[in-house]
Amino acid sequence: MSLPSKVKLVDVGPRDGLQNEKQPVPAAVKIELVHRLQDAGLTEIEVTSFVSPKWVPQMADNAEVMAGIRRKPGVRYSVLTPNMQGFEAAVLSKPDEVVVFAAASEAFSQRNINCSIAESIERFRPVVEAARARNIYVRGAISCAVGCPYEGEVAPERVELVARLLKDIGVQHAGVADTVGVGTPLKVRRAMEATLRHYSIDDVSGHFHDTYGQALANTLICLQMGIWQYDTSSAGLGGCPYAKGATGNVATEDVVYLLQGMGIVTGIDLDKLIDAGKFISDFLERKPNSRAATALLNKRAS
Ligand code: HMG
Ligand code: MG
Repeated sequence: MSLPSKVKLVDVGPRDGLQNEKQPVPAAVKIELVHRLQDAGLTEIEVTSFVSPKWVPQMADNAEVMAGIRRKPGVRYSVLTPNMQGFEAAVLSKPDEVVVFAAASEAFSQRNINCSIAESIERFRPVVEAARARNIYVRGAISCAVGCPYEGEVAPERVELVARLLKDIGVQHAGVADTVGVGTPLKVRRAMEATLRHYSIDDVSGHFHDTYGQALANTLICLQMGIWQYDTSSAGLGGCPYAKGATGNVATEDVVYLLQGMGIVTGIDLDKLIDAGKFISDFLERKPNSRAATALLNKRAS
C-alpha cells in the first residue's frame, strides 16, 4: 500500500454534472459555479463539452461559458472534444486541456458518440495531433471500464485494448470511468491495472459515478494503488444521457472529506467547496448529493 501524499481533483460538475439536467441552466450560473470552485481551491475544472447541441442541449452554451470565466492563474480548464468539429470550436475558447472520450464497450460507443470504438479512435487521431501541435494537453476517458448499461460486465482486456489504442494515437492521460457506477473495488482495480499496462501511474485517473454507493470505496482502492488523480463532481451532480439510470459522480465534498481525514493534501477548502455545491443545488432546487456536505451543513445550522 503506497498512499499518495497529495491528490489532484478535477471537478467535472459544470460538465458531467450539468449535461444531463433537463431544466435549462443559464450560462451565468455555470460560470458562477466555476468561479466558486476555483475560489474553493480546485485547480482543474472540466467546464463544458463541444458536442452536438442536438444530442446534448445543455452544453450548447459551451463558448459562452468559456468566454465568461474569469481565469485564475494556476487553474486549468478542460473541455470535451469528440471530433475535429468539436476541437475547432473549442480551440477558440482557449482550453488548457481537451478530453477525447472512448468506451470499452461497443454498444456504449455507438449510443454515446454514434460510432464504433475503432472509428472513434480515427476521429480522435486528428484531434490529438492538432491539440498537441498547439501544446494543449490531451486527456482520454475510457467509459464503461467495468460495466456497460447495454452489454453488462466489461472485461479488463477490453479496457487494456482501448488504453493501448489511446496511447498509440498520443493521448497523454487515461481516465478510467465507471460510467454506470456499478463497479466494486476489485473490479475497478483490475480495470486500473489494465490501463497501467500502457500508462504510467502519473498519467491515469479515476472517474467514478456513485449509482450503487461504491465510488468512495473505489476511490480508496485506487489511492492504495498510488493513483493520485480523480474526477469528482461538486454536490454529486451528474450522469450521462446515454447511461440511463446512472447517477452523478462521486461528490467532490465526500472525496475531500475522505482525503483530509487521511492526511492527504488537496489544497481545497472544504467549507468553500460546500458553499459551491450548495449554490448549484439551490439553483436546481434540491439538496446536495453529498453525505459530507449534508452533515457539515446540518452542523452549521445547529
Ligand atoms: P454524428 O451525428 O455522428 O456526427 O455525432 P456527424 O459528424 O455525422 O454530424 C452530424 C451533425 O452533428 C451535423 O449537424 C454536425 O454539424 C453536428 P447537422 O448538419 O445535422 O445540423 N456535429 C457537431 N455539432 C457540434 N459539435 C460537434 C459536432 N460534431 C458533429 N462536435 C457526435 C457525433 C459525437 C457529435 C454526437 O454523437 C454527440 O454529440 N454525442 C454526444 C456525446 C456526449 O456529449 N456524451 C456525454 C459526454 S461523455 C460522458 O459523459 C462520459 C464521461 O463522463 C466518462 C464516463 O463517465 O464514462 C466523459
Ligand atoms: Mg461521467
